[in-house]
Amino acid sequence: MARDRIISQESRGPNEEQLIQSLRPTRLDECVGQRQVIEQLKIAMAAARQRGEPLEHILLDGPPGLGKTTLAHVVAHEMDTSIKITSGPALTKPGDLMPWLTNMERGDVLFIDEIHRLSHSIEEFLYPAMEDFRIDFAIESGMSGRTVNLPLKQFTLIGATTRAGLLTAAMRDRFGLQFHFDFYNVEDLMTMLRRSAGKLSVPAEDGALHALARRSRGTPRVANRLLRRTRDYAQVRADGHLTTEVVEQALGILQIDALGLDELDRSYLRALITTYGGGPAGVEALAATLGQERDTLEDVVEPYLLQIGFVTRTRQGRMATAPACEHLHLPTPPPRVVPPPDEPNLFDEPA
Ligand SMILES: Nc1ncnc2c1ncn2[C@@H]1O[C@H](COP(=O)(O)OP(=O)(O)O)[C@@H](O)[C@H]1O
Ligand SMILES: [Mg+2]
Repeated sequence: MARDRIISQESRGPNEEQLIQSLRPTRLDECVGQRQVIEQLKIAMAAARQRGEPLEHILLDGPPGLGKTTLAHVVAHEMDTSIKITSGPALTKPGDLMPWLTNMERGDVLFIDEIHRLSHSIEEFLYPAMEDFRIDFAIESGMSGRTVNLPLKQFTLIGATTRAGLLTAAMRDRFGLQFHFDFYNVEDLMTMLRRSAGKLSVPAEDGALHALARRSRGTPRVANRLLRRTRDYAQVRADGHLTTEVVEQALGILQIDALGLDELDRSYLRALITTYGGGPAGVEALAATLGQERDTLEDVVEPYLLQIGFVTRTRQGRMATAPACEHLHLPTPPPRVVPPPDEPNLFDEPA
């Protein structure tokens, strides 16, 4: 349910992927934002090209919808090589990697999405492939079994993850280049939206693009999705032009407010502010109150609320901030005195 939210940062499957494919930049110079990442990557690519070597392995981490997959494609394109795409959950045993690895030409990119979800045995299998460009595999088992070494062409592995913290240190260390993606600012999102509107041939005024950018939660995938929804609205209910008014009406129907919060975000905040007096409240308690899964709150509700400073996470639980109360027109609860965690409980029996 939560994943169907219009403002969900996560992809809604192959259908949407295909739709947004046309909105993807294909060259590094077309990529908006993430300047640090782009700059470092440009240097690494130029250096590799000068040496006539393939790029080092690259790890991309950051929340969903910020352009990790896009960047992997751009890198392959810029390096004039081809890209093969798989993902952690799609690989169930080391053998599943064989066809990918053995079909790599020198310099090709192997993209593994959600790389934190690789099993331990696959990781182990991948290490020599990444480090020495060879794989070891056993043919026949038991007494007559032996291990065969197979050399690979020198390829570039690009791993993407939304949960860098779940990656083993051994895995992380094998990436020569590591980049972290951050949420985009409103100006960058406007630039992207302007380009997307152009590609979709939707006439849009600056105010409309600004209104969309402000509601996109710092996320290009959300920006493009909101653009398509407002385009539909403009086509059916107006004359096809995106004006500020049209955007506001369209997003009003979708119940997305001026900051890009939807009904689930708002009920989360309302529960935290009114039911739990502003917090601290544990995520389990909040999930129970809202009838949602804890994972849903942690993956798709809290990151953005933390990012905009509406919620803070303390050791005792989540707390709502004053701007969150103002945004919902709720009175700010009086500050609660939270005892420091190590303070001894006075009612405990002495040991
Ligand atoms: N730097 C960028 N400039 C313009 N559009 C972008 C950029 N990064 C991402 N996008 C848009 O956002 C969409 C989602 O990006 P994607 O690479 O699938 O995100 P991720 O893999 O991090 O979940 C892309 O299809 C593209 O339209
Ligand atoms: Mg992706």
